[in-house]
Amino acid sequence: MQRLMILPITFMLAACTDTCIPKKEINNSTINASDKLEAIKARGVSQADGLMSAIKPALMQSLQADPTGESGMMVCANAAMPLTDNYNAQLSADSKVRRTALKYRNPTNKPDTKDIEVMNNIIASKNLAPVIVEMNDSYRVYKPLSMTQPCLACHGDLKTMNKQTKEKIKEYYPKDLAAGFKLGEFRGVIVSEIKK
Ligand code: HEC
Repeated sequence: MQRLMILPITFMLAACTDTCIPKKEINNSTINASDKLEAIKARGVSQADGLMSAIKPALMQSLQADPTGESGMMVCANAAMPLTDNYNAQLSADSKVRRTALKYRNPTNKPDTKDIEVMNNIIASKNLAPVIVEMNDSYRVYKPLSMTQPCLACHGDLKTMNKQTKEKIKEYYPKDLAAGFKLGEFRGVIVSEIKK
């Protein structure tokens, strides 16, 4: 009686090995791959947020002291890049963050082909959720930034911008593209690059 029960089970298992089990493995690896991407994305976003927290206090402090943005311009012009380098030095060796935009102010922040493609997609989809992209030897996590009230002092309408701030922009960034943005508009991204 026992033997009779074991036989069908053995048959079922044998039938299963080439159909059920591999299928289950494929499903598992798909789930694991998307879990892995989600984890990398979360890490990228948190690294991007970290850069914002590193830059924002200096910017907000100067805006509080001078709401026109004129002295803040100096903070951004002189401190944003060193603050970024400093922040990157503290990140783990496989990671680096940077800022870029389609309409950029600092030529050092000029976007590459992939950046342009991703930002155009963000604009077309009107979705400001973070995006993860797989490159050959790294992942890139794009965290979109939108225009909030304080940004207007330096990236808003040139017609209403403080005269001195405007002059500083002209002096430091003669080829500036990053003015004329409206409140709520997509401004650019923080890119977290994580090596594979
Ligand atoms: C006090 C003036 C000032 C304010 C306020 C300001 N920025 Fe900027 N921003 C600059 C300057 C100057 C640069 C170029 C230097 C740099 O940071 O690399 C810049 C650069 C950037 C860049 C990098 C790409 C580029 O254009 O070079 C992004 C993205 C950006 N700003 C977004 C914002 C956002 C979002 C806000 C509001 C939260 C904001 N900025 C507020 C002055 C300002």
